[in-house]
Amino acid sequence: MSHTILGISAYYHDSAACIVRNGEIVAAAQEERFTRKKHDQNFPSHAIQYCIKEARCSVADLDAVVFYDKPFLKFNRLLETYLTFAPKGFRSFMISMPIWLKEKLWLSDIISEELHYDGKVLFTEHHESHAASAFFPSPYERAAIVTIDGVGEYATSSIAAGNGNTLKILSEQHFPHSLGLLYSAFTYFTGFKVNSGEYKVMGLAPYGEPRFVRTIFDHLIDLREDGSFTMNMEYFNYAVGLTMTNNRMSSLFGGPPRKPEAMLTQREMDLAASIQAVTEEVIMRIVRQAKKITGERNLCLAGGVALNCVANGKIYRSGIFDSLWIQPAAGDAGGALGAALTVYYHYFKQKRTTTVTDRQRGSYLGTQYSDTEIEQFLKIKNIRYVPFNNTPELCEKVAELLTQEKVVGWFQGRMEFGPRALGNRSILGDARSSEMQKKMNLKIKFRESFRPFAPAVLSEYASEWFDLACESPYMLLVADVVKNKQRMMTEGERQLWGIEKLNIVRSSIPAVTHIDYSARIQTVHRETNPLFHQLLVNFYEKTGCPVIVNTSFNVRGEPIVESPDDAYKCFMRTGMDFLVMGKYLLAKQDQPVFADDGNWRKVYALD
Ligand SMILES: [Fe+2]
Repeated sequence: MSHTILGISAYYHDSAACIVRNGEIVAAAQEERFTRKKHDQNFPSHAIQYCIKEARCSVADLDAVVFYDKPFLKFNRLLETYLTFAPKGFRSFMISMPIWLKEKLWLSDIISEELHYDGKVLFTEHHESHAASAFFPSPYERAAIVTIDGVGEYATSSIAAGNGNTLKILSEQHFPHSLGLLYSAFTYFTGFKVNSGEYKVMGLAPYGEPRFVRTIFDHLIDLREDGSFTMNMEYFNYAVGLTMTNNRMSSLFGGPPRKPEAMLTQREMDLAASIQAVTEEVIMRIVRQAKKITGERNLCLAGGVALNCVANGKIYRSGIFDSLWIQPAAGDAGGALGAALTVYYHYFKQKRTTTVTDRQRGSYLGTQYSDTEIEQFLKIKNIRYVPFNNTPELCEKVAELLTQEKVVGWFQGRMEFGPRALGNRSILGDARSSEMQKKMNLKIKFRESFRPFAPAVLSEYASEWFDLACESPYMLLVADVVKNKQRMMTEGERQLWGIEKLNIVRSSIPAVTHIDYSARIQTVHRETNPLFHQLLVNFYEKTGCPVIVNTSFNVRGEPIVESPDDAYKCFMRTGMDFLVMGKYLLAKQDQPVFADDGNWRKVYALD
C-alpha cells in the first residue's frame, strides 16, 4: 500500500512543506522562496502547492497531513509562563493572543479549509519532528540523536535514540532554560537580528577574546555535568517581555546592547567569542551525555543550534561518536520533513531501510526549471544569451570565467531545501583571489562583512585542502585550511585590531579562509550533483585548485532566488558579471537596460 504524507511547519519561523511518499522525500521547500519574504512564517500555501505538483498528486490522494508541533501544548506553556511571571509580561501576552485565538489553536480547521482537505490532520511534537528529520534520512540503522533549538512546546533540547523505524526521546531540557534562546539573547545584545543574526555572532567570535566566559557561568547559567542547566532569568526578558535581555544584563557587560546600526567594538567581539565558547561547552556535555545514555556509535543532529557549524566541527573532531549526520534544514523548516517521516514510520508503521548514502538527496528537493522554460522566459523578456549545446562545453567556459575573477550566478536543477545554497542557486567566484571576498561582499551582497565566504571543494581532494577526513555535503562543518596552504600572519599584521585583520591574505584560498584559518566546507560529490562536480573538475584542471567560492544566490535580506525571474533580477541589480541558467550563459555587458524602480532596496533593507 502506498502512503503519501504532507508535512507542514508554520507560524514561528521559516514555514515549509514537504511530501514523503513511501519513505522517499519527494519534495520539500520553504515558503519564503515563493513569497520573497525572508523567513516567512505564514501558512505555507505556495510551498504546499509546489510539493503537491511535484508529487503529481492531488490533495485527495494524501493519506495524512501532519503539522510539526502541538499548538495546544505550546499555548499551555504560554499561559503557564504568563501566570508564573504575572503581572509582568502582560503586554507581550496581549500581543501574542490574537494570532493564537484566530489561527494557531484552530490549525486543523485551517489546514482543512486552506487545502480543501477532509482527511486526517496529525500533530507531532516539535523536538520529535527535529529528531525525526535528523535520524530517518540519515544513513544509520541506529544512532543517538541530539536536538537543540530556542523552544518548541516545552522542550528546548532533547536526547533521543533511533533504531530502525523507531525513535524514542530519552531526556529533555525545558523552557525557559534554552541554549538557543541564550545564544539569541547574545545575538540581540551584540546588535544583530534574533533568529537570523546568530550566524554573524558565530562569524564574529574568532575576532574576540572569550573574556566573559567566567561571567556567563557565574551569573547567567548554572551548567551541570550532564549538559542540563538552569538559566538565571533575572537577566533575561524573553519569557515576559518584547526584548531578549534587560538592564541587569547591561550592567553585567558594561553598557546597553549595541544598536544595530552602531559600530562593532571589541566588546561585541569578546561577547561573541564568549557565548560561542559557552555554547560549545554546553553542546559537548550534551553530546557526551547522549553517548553515555545511548551507547551508540553514530550521532544525528537537528534544531536551529545544529546550524552552528563551528560547534559541529568540534563534535566531529572530539571523536565521541564515530560518525555524524546533520539535517541540512536543521531549523524549523526541517520540522515539516521530520513530521512527515514520523507519520510514515510511527503512525503507518512502515519498514525503514538504510543505504550507504543518506536519503536527503543532496537536499536538492525543491523547484526546478527545464531549459525550455528558461529559454521561454529569456525570449519573453528580450534577454540576450548564448546557448551551449552540451554541459562539458558550458562547464569549460564557466571555469574559464571564474579563473578570470568573474563572479558568476549559477542557477541549475532543483532548489536546495534548508538555509544553504549547495550549487544549484549559488553565486560562484575564484577562491584564490585576494580581492574576491571584498568584491562579492560590496558589489554583489551589498554588505560589509567580517564573515568569509564558504568553499565548495571536490570531495576527492577535500582532505588535501582542509583538515577534514569526512564528508560535509551540506556545508555544516567547519575545519581548518591545512597547514601547507596557510600563510602565517606577520608580526605587524598580528597587531592589527579586530576587523582590520579582515583583508589579510591568510592562505592560498583567501576568499574562503576565516581569520582563525577555518572554513565552512561543502564537499561536492558526483553522485548528488554531477553538473556542479563537473564545473569544479574543469576549474581544478585549469588551476590545480579544487576549491571555489560558493555563496547563496541572493542579496542581503532577500530569500535565495527560486525562479529564473528572481535570478535575472538579482543578476541585474548587482555587480555579478555572468549568469548561467540551465544551458544558457548571460553576460552583463550584453544585457538591455534594466528598468527597476529601486523599491527592492527598501524591501531588503539595503538603504
Ligand atoms: Fe525548532
